[in-house]
Amino acid sequence: SFKPLVFSGVQPTGNLHLGNYLGAIRKFVALQDSHECIYCVVDLHAITAQLVHGDLAGQTRSITAAFLASGIDPKKHIVFNQARVPQHAELAWIFNCVARIGWMNRMTQFKDKAGKDRENASLGLLAYPSLMAADILLYRATHVPVGDDQKQHLELTRDIATKFNNDFSARIGELGVGVEMQVGDESVNGFFPITEPLIEGPATRVMSLREGSKKMSKSDPSDLSRINLTDDADTISKKIKKAKTDPEALPSEVEGLEGRPEAENLVGIYAALAEMTREQVLAQFGGQQFSAFKPALADLAVEKLAPIASEMRKLEADPAYIDSVLRDGGERAGVIAEDTMKSVKEIIGL
Ligand code: ADP
Ligand code: NA
Repeated sequence: SFKPLVFSGVQPTGNLHLGNYLGAIRKFVALQDSHECIYCVVDLHAITAQLVHGDLAGQTRSITAAFLASGIDPKKHIVFNQARVPQHAELAWIFNCVARIGWMNRMTQFKDKAGKDRENASLGLLAYPSLMAADILLYRATHVPVGDDQKQHLELTRDIATKFNNDFSARIGELGVGVEMQVGDESVNGFFPITEPLIEGPATRVMSLREGSKKMSKSDPSDLSRINLTDDADTISKKIKKAKTDPEALPSEVEGLEGRPEAENLVGIYAALAEMTREQVLAQFGGQQFSAFKPALADLAVEKLAPIASEMRKLEADPAYIDSVLRDGGERAGVIAEDTMKSVKEIIGL
């Protein structure tokens, strides 16, 4: 079977928020003890929305600083930015020829991001999930920690791997570059693993603090909608205080959160930050009003986020160090990437 390997990425667009932290980065940190991990700042993804000359390098350093400040160890694992390893784009092109247009047209993130004027969206935005599949499969990663919004893209990654493995199974066997894997009743020789998404816990989809029906996002125009990783204690408290809620007290059972998206969101955030279950949070706060719960949540958020923000500031004061981390990580990633592309080309006959 495939060697267990974790891969995930974060785009260098805008401020990192609590959703990114709880849905992704915190899990990246936790997986380091049990797995080999590759964490990538996906700058080639960031240009799909808008291609203009901006401070992409600065944003990339800032995400890298957040990774390191959160506790990712760039010596034991690999931290780099995508554009340093040209094989991401090279494999994405191959995958553009594996994936079908119909698969891409079904992606809800594309529909959301493209909006009404779909004909005017970049071709890169449509092909985004194919690049994401390349990011993951270039390292033949078996596990991908992500937020719930990435579930559909992970399914597409599995579809691409499955189609490639099936289309080329004879050739993969001939070259001896595959791994025996079970597909239904059949044993086939696959080159790419069928990657497992890791989407678990109480904060896989952190919602906006202003609208319980929208996910917390970097692109939300309202700064009150999200807690940024770099917000100071006063700002965090203010945002939680202003977070939309309902007039009821907190329920004492999880079932009582049904139909109360704002309450559910805040309880989920508390649970994730405190490393408790939602049941345990409600056992503690059930029956209390938000006026009592919100200050406790604010204190907890400050306690968990302030040390990360202060460490980020220190790291960001030394851009040369961050660049050296990315350079070193890029070199190590490049060795694996080159090896994969050599086999892919042999398989295809390029
Ligand atoms: P964004 O969606 O904020 O633009 P990215 O696309 O770079 O950020 O996503 C980085 C990671 O953060 C992904 O794994 C994504 O699933 C996760 N993520 C983003 N927003 C949320 C959220 N509101 N709740 C949980 N996870 C999230
Ligand atoms: Na996202």
